[in-house]
Amino acid sequence: MMKPYYCTTKNDFTLYQGDTFNLLHQIEGSFDMIFADPPYFLSTGNGKVNVNGQYIKFDKGLWDRVRSRDEKDSFNRKWLEPCARLLKKNGTIWICGTYHNIFSVEKCLDELGFKIINMIVWQKPDPPLTLSDKRFNFSAEYLIWATRRACKDYTFNIEALTKINGGIQMPDVWKLSAASTWEKTHGKHPTQKPLRLLYRAITASTNIGDRILDPFAGSSTTGIAANLIGRQYVGIDDSKEYLNLSIKRREYIEDKAHFFDIKHRMEEDPEQVMVLVNHARYELKTKMLETGICYIRIGDSKGSVLVTYGFERMQYVLLHTNGEDCHLFRLKSRGTFNIWPKETLESFGFHPEHSPYYAVFHFDNTYEISFPKTPNLKDKINTYRARIRPLEDFFDIG
Ligand SMILES: C[S@@+](CC[C@H](N)C(=O)[O-])C[C@H]1O[C@@H](n2cnc3c(N)ncnc32)[C@H](O)[C@@H]1O
Repeated sequence: MMKPYYCTTKNDFTLYQGDTFNLLHQIEGSFDMIFADPPYFLSTGNGKVNVNGQYIKFDKGLWDRVRSRDEKDSFNRKWLEPCARLLKKNGTIWICGTYHNIFSVEKCLDELGFKIINMIVWQKPDPPLTLSDKRFNFSAEYLIWATRRACKDYTFNIEALTKINGGIQMPDVWKLSAASTWEKTHGKHPTQKPLRLLYRAITASTNIGDRILDPFAGSSTTGIAANLIGRQYVGIDDSKEYLNLSIKRREYIEDKAHFFDIKHRMEEDPEQVMVLVNHARYELKTKMLETGICYIRIGDSKGSVLVTYGFERMQYVLLHTNGEDCHLFRLKSRGTFNIWPKETLESFGFHPEHSPYYAVFHFDNTYEISFPKTPNLKDKINTYRARIRPLEDFFDIG
């Protein structure tokens, strides 16, 4: 039996170190899903990329070197053949890429008797600038999702995906940012995928307890996402550096608080619109409605602002008094606030008393938005705390 480089006591996260072309022939058992993020063959060794106006060297590593068409085909055949054997009869395979590798992957899949179910476009809202002024800016990667040609009963959890997409059937274009800083606190992998991308793929095509194989593990984003939602993971990479990074990521979520924190961030919908819900006593609220200014004290006191996830997606403010008499408005600018001293608020006719500084939100008081759902804002002492809630708590979206 092959010795793993690392394995959790629960056996739900296993890493093998070495050449995937050899190890894939020694892996035991079968898999419900394979997620492969293979080399795209992008690195020339002397390329450059524009990051925030600075040209920096672009080289992901020897494993990503540019290859000829035939070399690409034989590379892809060499790992796809054993993967096809390891995939259950009704299993599905996901493969990432760009035009540099994806046509070769499709050709090999076809030779192996697979059909494409979908080709997902991963659209990045914040891509780095492409250097050339002779082509469009690159802002997407692609994911082939495939199964055996004869297979009709592969897993597709459409309801779960619809829920993730706010009640609307999930399209094949996924707008998701690249891996964020909160995903890179243990170190960096040059092509680390965002957890949110894996969350969608794994939720779509597996069930709790299913086994997932990743023949090019890198920092094991697939494994972290898999474990966060109760799936088992086996990953292979020949780099000890990347496997050690994978282990750090996995050990971090052993802690319950870290587990739920990362899971919560992964499951968040980056497009979800949020509302700042704020209590103000009646006279203060009237003044806020008159000026289009909502403010919250800054400091360690009741009612002070707590900057939580979703803050950057805040587009509305809802003012209420003791959970009643609610008014909803659009913020003038999304997810932003000013910090004002109490004197500035006084110049607008307010009488702030509790703090020297306040977070100030400007909203469009010329247009009050009516909303059909009666929100339950009463929550004992929490009724008086400012909170950030999804817009669908007040509207039936979709
Ligand atoms: C595109 S990266 C995967 C990144 C990963 N999805 C993540 O989120 O961190 C590809 C990985 O494949 C590994 N790799 C490339 N060729 C390999 C081979 N023949 N055997 C094992 N690993 C290989 C590289 O070390 C690299 O970490």
